[in-house]
Amino acid sequence: MKIEKAKEILKNSKNVAVLTGAGISAESGIPTFRGEGGYWRNYRSEDLATPEAFSRDPQLVWSWYEMRRGVCLNAQPNPGHKIIAEMENYYPEFLVITQNVDGLHARAGNKKLLQIHGDIFTSRCTDCMTIEHFDEHPLSTNPPLCPSCGGLLRPHIVWFGEAYFPGMIDKCLNFLKSVDTICIIGTSGQVSVPVQLAEYAISQGAKSIEINPSTSTLTELVDIALQAPAGEILPKIWDK
Ligand code: OAD
Repeated sequence: MKIEKAKEILKNSKNVAVLTGAGISAESGIPTFRGEGGYWRNYRSEDLATPEAFSRDPQLVWSWYEMRRGVCLNAQPNPGHKIIAEMENYYPEFLVITQNVDGLHARAGNKKLLQIHGDIFTSRCTDCMTIEHFDEHPLSTNPPLCPSCGGLLRPHIVWFGEAYFPGMIDKCLNFLKSVDTICIIGTSGQVSVPVQLAEYAISQGAKSIEINPSTSTLTELVDIALQAPAGEILPKIWDK
């Protein structure tokens, strides 16, 4: 029944946003941020993805990213990513807003994509601020240094406690103000900005579909909550 309703909503929409979190990539073998996969050498992800951890021990933080970059390089887009790429080709207005830094949406074919927390294969120099594609794996030096000025490189990622990249949230809000439907996939809703983006779309009148095998902070708010893995349920509701 819920599946039929979700199909109906998607069929009658023209202007669709998809908001994803770590769960969309779980079936590609990338551990989610929180929960069992969220530990590395006894460190919690939340304790490493911070500017404080990086200034204390950049080598440790880069070692963690080196491990995660290896996982991302070996992962492939799963059926959930592939359906989201098909959706982009179908709808006149479409945008993926992802919290993920793994690059799998782009590799699945999405171009209308905002990676609001950055990209694991982009670095930023902490001195000259140059932002560059950086996919060296394994690292030849740890921590890696800026090829232009020799300064310390850092992942170009929004860490806990940091501001979003300038203009990013406005771009999201601008799109979300007039969406017919928002699909919220694989996010626990523990980070406030993505939650606010979903709430904003819903407050503007968007229909909402959540896909998550567990409940999240958004489950109570959505029109339809489909409690199943994204790679299983998306092919069932996508009936183009
Ligand atoms: P979390 O790790 O907090 O949550 C992952 C969610 O995915 C959970 O709600 C799971 O139930 C769900 N999930 C697991 N497997 C799934 C599947 N196969 N299909 C669908 N859902 C599944 O990850 P996020 O909510 O993305 O930010 O966390 C947001 C942010 O936390 C990350 O982007 C990161 C961190 O702060 C930064 O690094 C800035």
